[in-house]
Amino acid sequence: MSDAGWVLLSLFVKKITPDIIRSWKEDDRKISALTAYDFPTAKLLDESGIDLVLVGDSLGMTVLGYPDTTHVQIEDVIYHTRAVARGISSALLAADLPIYSYETAGLAVQNAGRLISAGAQAVKLEGGQAWAKQIQAITAAGIPFLGHIGMLPQHVLEEGGYHRKGRTAEECEFLIEEARAIERNGGFAVVLELIEPSTAAKITRTISIPTIGIGSGTECDGQILVFHDLVGYFPWFKPKHVKPESDLASEIRKAARAYIDRTRGESKK
Ligand code: KIV
Repeated sequence: MSDAGWVLLSLFVKKITPDIIRSWKEDDRKISALTAYDFPTAKLLDESGIDLVLVGDSLGMTVLGYPDTTHVQIEDVIYHTRAVARGISSALLAADLPIYSYETAGLAVQNAGRLISAGAQAVKLEGGQAWAKQIQAITAAGIPFLGHIGMLPQHVLEEGGYHRKGRTAEECEFLIEEARAIERNGGFAVVLELIEPSTAAKITRTISIPTIGIGSGTECDGQILVFHDLVGYFPWFKPKHVKPESDLASEIRKAARAYIDRTRGESKK
């Protein structure tokens, strides 16, 4: 398509903003969100009508081959955010602040600004009350903020694995306070990861901003998944909450084997 064609098309594409996502709390409309780390995936998801795309620090495992997200650097997220931003027209694009990139309020604002310069329209960090200063500084700087509570993958080393949260009354109370801290400090929505469904439902009913669940039951205001889990592109680990919609790993292996056989079958002369 010509440049004029793209410009014309963009006039008809409704851009999803943090305010639009927030307004869906009052509607029946559920929020659909997926991660993406590269241009073609981002463009395909955007064309499919996804509401929110996240350049998650899960890229540490899904595309960089690390054992967990604690190895991800801000430069990694910036690099992938630039690629994803080129593929997004309509969806809201959020990017993760990786571990150690938001130790102080100043550092959080500085690195959030770098993600915005790379093309993100919102940023996310893991945790609530303990990071109130950082969240407040980010939103005071005019940067839309997406919260993330429950099981926090950046804490995997301290916690010795990925454990479901919100099973006891104390944990439930704590998570409600975490969600309230995000709401109070200006977050437009909050991801609830691996939270007991009844607790996730309670948080969803308690706060005025939307909840976006992952492995936290169906009573959230929306759902988010790691793209590679949805399409079966990371066959070495499958979280329990994931129901893949395709088996891309098998398709890739099949195509690679067909190509290898075809190539080996060719004569050299
Ligand atoms: O990094 C990530 O992909 C995430 C989602 C699982 C919410 O934070």
